[in-house]
Amino acid sequence: MRSAELDEFVERVNERTDIYSVVSRYVQLNQRGGRYWGCCPFHNEKTASFSVSTDKGLFYCFGCGAGGNVFKFLSLIENITYFEAVKLQAQRLGIELPKKKSSPEQERRRREERTLVKLNEEAQEFYHESLINTARGSVGRKYLEGRGITKETIETFRIGLAPEEWDSLLKKFTRQGYTPQQLETVGLIVKRKNSVGYYDRFRERVMIPICDVFGHVVGFGGRILTAETEATPKYLNTPETVLFNKRNLLFGLDKSNRAISSAGVAIVVEGYMDAISLFSAGIKNVVATLGTAFTPEHVKLILRYARKIIFCYDSDEAGQRATIRALPIVQQAGADVFIIKIPDGKDPDEFIRKHGKEAFEELIKNASTWIDYRIRHILANTEHSTAQGKIRALREILPIIVSADNRVTGDEYCKKIAAELVLDERLVIDEYRKALKQATKSEPIAAKRTKANDDEDLRIRMASEEILRMAWHETDTLDYVLTVLPKEIFNSCHKEIISWLETCAAQERRPDKISAAEELSEEANAELSRILLNGADELGKREIAIFEESIDILRQIVLMKEYYKLSAQAEKYIPNDETTYNKTVKEFLKIKEKVDNLKGNL
Ligand code: GTP
Ligand code: MN
Repeated sequence: MRSAELDEFVERVNERTDIYSVVSRYVQLNQRGGRYWGCCPFHNEKTASFSVSTDKGLFYCFGCGAGGNVFKFLSLIENITYFEAVKLQAQRLGIELPKKKSSPEQERRRREERTLVKLNEEAQEFYHESLINTARGSVGRKYLEGRGITKETIETFRIGLAPEEWDSLLKKFTRQGYTPQQLETVGLIVKRKNSVGYYDRFRERVMIPICDVFGHVVGFGGRILTAETEATPKYLNTPETVLFNKRNLLFGLDKSNRAISSAGVAIVVEGYMDAISLFSAGIKNVVATLGTAFTPEHVKLILRYARKIIFCYDSDEAGQRATIRALPIVQQAGADVFIIKIPDGKDPDEFIRKHGKEAFEELIKNASTWIDYRIRHILANTEHSTAQGKIRALREILPIIVSADNRVTGDEYCKKIAAELVLDERLVIDEYRKALKQATKSEPIAAKRTKANDDEDLRIRMASEEILRMAWHETDTLDYVLTVLPKEIFNSCHKEIISWLETCAAQERRPDKISAAEELSEEANAELSRILLNGADELGKREIAIFEESIDILRQIVLMKEYYKLSAQAEKYIPNDETTYNKTVKEFLKIKEKVDNLKGNL
């Protein structure tokens, strides 16, 4: 909900913010031609196409199209929402946040959530106490000792033990005043199927508390002490609850986020025990998924702290398949991905216990790039002793190298693959070049076919930009624009901007960058920033002339479209409908005249 207070707050933060000092925390900027330039932090590039204008308070990347005001920049680079970015900047400037007034319903929900977190926290202490301070806890202590988990680690992760009885937690907590409904809501107890009442979900298991990034306990993973059977799975987790959603949670992140930030990299492992083991051994920048696939939400969480992610899944087939599936998710999000394959031992926990921290650091140093990893995966999973097999493996590998999009490393890879497959180097390089050519060849032909359209699209775009720029400064001109031009001529992004400007005009408010960032889609906001960055700040005679010329260009294009449509229609009428034919011809001749008149003006 927007309020005048909130608007005033955003405005205050905005006024005191200098976009240069904000951006230069993240990007090295150099001044050139009245603007600052640097390498875009939102896509991979070597030449600077990311620009910042301090006068206008805007940024835009000519490489990837990201753009907007300073809060947009912060929200993108910190992976936070727009309003969180405003708050972050306010914090940095020492501006106090306005007190939030929330509805009674929101207030009630927040109170309930706090109660549930408190309940989980008390459960954590209950399990922890029964592990370390009771006689019956000795089975758990022995188990953990046997796995090399120290007292210190038990304290750090507040590891516990769920007692053997069916209702020890239930009894204790209802006595303390919690209702069975509350206990059921957080997944600590389960309703009996065939009779009334409830029983404890976790019994005779080592309890690993799972926290959100703020360190609130939101659930548990319970590990069985003996060998798993079909009836008793190795791990029993909290079911999905209001607090516990596996897609959005990474085990350990509450403890590792600072280490991830300072190392610039997060190591992702599969198991709780892997994360606990690495962390205790001093590799602190580690998180684990909760026994589910790696999700885009997980990447986002990590990207708040680091751009680089190293996957270190189990070396068995399931772990390797999970790695392959995670790669595109991470790449799409723009993170740098590396992979460690544990050479000896099934998982990171076993490896580090056997070989120590230094050996693991060596693995980190030698982590493979995703290309290397995928090539190695193919080589390991294809039979390539025969000539047929070699060709098949090569066919699978070449597209990966081509997609890496780098001629120099491409040739390097070819040499490596030739050696691996025992093939002639020349042959591999030739095949690679062929694949490379094929990948680029289809483009020019397709490009030629659409060149005429492209020219027109480009002219429409350029003219639209001039018109939008004018409409931004003078919303009154919109009325005129939309009487002489149909809205359909503008592309969808420009249409969105126009509709928004119309809304501003209707509500008699001046469009500004802040409301643009809040009310426009990301794409439209970036486009608007680019358009404004490219233009003059003040309207002069020249700008007005360009605006009028742009209107004429678009009118001409609209008329020409109409003209072609009508002439095609007229042709259809020739054989059998002379009256309609004549009428159509007259109409298109009128249009032609208009077009010619316009041309005279241009
Ligand atoms: P340890 O055998 O104790 O070393 O387990 P681990 O932490 O190495 O886990 P493992 O590699 O066996 O499995 C990876 C993750 O998958 C675990 O941490 C759990 O989150 C999840 N998981 C494993 N087994 C089960 C299971 O039986 N049920 C459920 N729901 N999750 C499981
Ligand atoms: Mn393990």
